[in-house]
Amino acid sequence: MANYGQGESNGKIILMGEHAVVYGEPAIAFPFQAAKVVASLNEHITSSGDQLVSSYYTGILRDAPHSLKNIKQLVFNLKKELQIEQSLELTIHSTIPAERGMGSSAAVATAVTRAFYDYLEQPLSREQLLTNVQISEKIAHGNPSGIDAAATSSLEPIYFVKGHPFDYFSLNIDAFLIVADTGIKGQTRAVVKDVAHLFEKDQQKVGQKIQQLGYLTRQAKKAIVKNNPEHLAQAMNEAQLILKNLTISNDFLDVLIETARDSGALGAKLTGGGRGGCMIALAQTKTKAQEISEALLQAGAAATWIQGLGVHTYV
Ligand code: MEV
Repeated sequence: MANYGQGESNGKIILMGEHAVVYGEPAIAFPFQAAKVVASLNEHITSSGDQLVSSYYTGILRDAPHSLKNIKQLVFNLKKELQIEQSLELTIHSTIPAERGMGSSAAVATAVTRAFYDYLEQPLSREQLLTNVQISEKIAHGNPSGIDAAATSSLEPIYFVKGHPFDYFSLNIDAFLIVADTGIKGQTRAVVKDVAHLFEKDQQKVGQKIQQLGYLTRQAKKAIVKNNPEHLAQAMNEAQLILKNLTISNDFLDVLIETARDSGALGAKLTGGGRGGCMIALAQTKTKAQEISEALLQAGAAATWIQGLGVHTYV
């Protein structure tokens, strides 16, 4: 057995289908390589128990704040599953902004699970990985569809339908995506719950909107396959209208989305859990993407990133 283990993962961006994916509609997500997590595991010779080292909290794991309950539970499960009795020191380095719709909690759970299996030099199947991440995600998000777990552990874009095998496909579209962080913590858990309440109150009306989001995701996939950025952008804009109607957007996301469109974006929408977190915009050229990114920063975005969508390499 090695006395050291390491696991990595990446952030994710949902292009289309957030929230509707919880109700069985498809979603498209891809790994966001600009944001990563590295977890490392060492034996910790002490009587005080497992230790966590992270920018958010450093100290005895069992005394970590409630917001890290998912990690505490994950470590407990992994130690039990892998029959590890000695105390460990778990170090987490993350460049994924927390609670911004980039799948930070799933990415941390993925990297930690990989580190544990690496520590024991045991092979980790995709199923074992996702089972562990999903337990942790249930604590973090309440009713996760599994898309964050799938996308943060994947190196390929995925077309995801809850409960179905993953469908990996190529993002090969001649356009650039701008990602902008509102700087406001997203509220995935609360928003998923609120959408569920809306759905319970009016299953027909809300169910139709959710189905419409699913239809737009299928349209987006066709646009990607045909390398048609305009059609993809149209699907994004229509999805944003529905997401807003379902109370998933918020004022600042709306401001940034309008700013992106006014600066020449083909389309723009929120990404991920909503009511904060990040928005995305589609631009035809890299120069346009840079102009849009600049306008978003001037409008108050906390950070922006530009990513090529397959035809162009990552920027
Ligand atoms: C969060 O990144 C995506 C949501 O659709 C929730 C989920 O699918 O678990 C909002």
